[in-house]
Amino acid sequence: MATQADLRAKITVPDLIAAKRAGRRVTMMTAYDAAFARLVDAAGIDSILVGDSLGMVVLGHATTVPVTMDDMVSHCAAVARGASRPLLVGDLPFGSYQAGVADAMRNAIRLLKEGGMDAVKLEGGREVAETVRTLTANGIAVMAHVGLTPQRVAQLGGYKVQAKTGRAAQRLLEDALALEEAGAFAIVLEAVPAQVAALVTERLAIPTIGIGAGVRCDGQVLVLHDALGLYGSFAPKFAKRYADLGPVIVGALRDYDREVREGTFPDEAHSFAMSEREAATLDQTRMAAKPRAV
Ligand code: KIV
Repeated sequence: MATQADLRAKITVPDLIAAKRAGRRVTMMTAYDAAFARLVDAAGIDSILVGDSLGMVVLGHATTVPVTMDDMVSHCAAVARGASRPLLVGDLPFGSYQAGVADAMRNAIRLLKEGGMDAVKLEGGREVAETVRTLTANGIAVMAHVGLTPQRVAQLGGYKVQAKTGRAAQRLLEDALALEEAGAFAIVLEAVPAQVAALVTERLAIPTIGIGAGVRCDGQVLVLHDALGLYGSFAPKFAKRYADLGPVIVGALRDYDREVREGTFPDEAHSFAMSEREAATLDQTRMAAKPRAV
């Protein structure tokens, strides 16, 4: 998305909207810590999502539901320390905005002030439009998220493709329009048929960011651990694996384990040495420290 002239300029919310107007695709990737945020930034990706997917791929939960505000704040702050150019978006976790707009305001402010995020993301359609309106009216940039909304996995009966009928597609479009009207600056479309995502993308002025929503969205997002092969063997159909780092890491750790056991690590190159003169004094030290016979 960046041009040669502004290659290292910080990406902003208006930049994403301008990208849609100019027909430039937006790239987004999740990250959850400073080390990977630095790598995502180095790759030139426009935006980092500190997704509540961290509950599954980093914290080992079965779903995103148990993720807390404290989890999010801590991981957002780590990402903000690692990345400087991408637009940083932090997920409001389940339970942090559903009980009322005051909760949503307080928790979104935490993600910005303590977590260093530029914007927040929340899941849901027209039922969260008033929350989006309040947040944006108070200066908080909001990314919306419709289609498969993992925080509602129990209600949805699993991680299933959404909006598969004409009627459901119409509802999804109405939700997306309501969220745009409420002030969302972009909207994630997760696991919806490519034709439905294309229609929503056509009708909205704000960018659509697809994940399992086909190529005609304005941008794409993937979960980093799926893209790099760091989350076991299961991955949803839409999660293209750009590298298979799991086996590479296990191989490296096996080498370490073997070398420690056989005494070949650390070798001289990875150890510190005294000068020979100083080393000679160690004999005296050894003698002086000799335990006295009783
Ligand atoms: O939590 C997350 O990583 C997300 C993406 C799947 C869009 O919400």
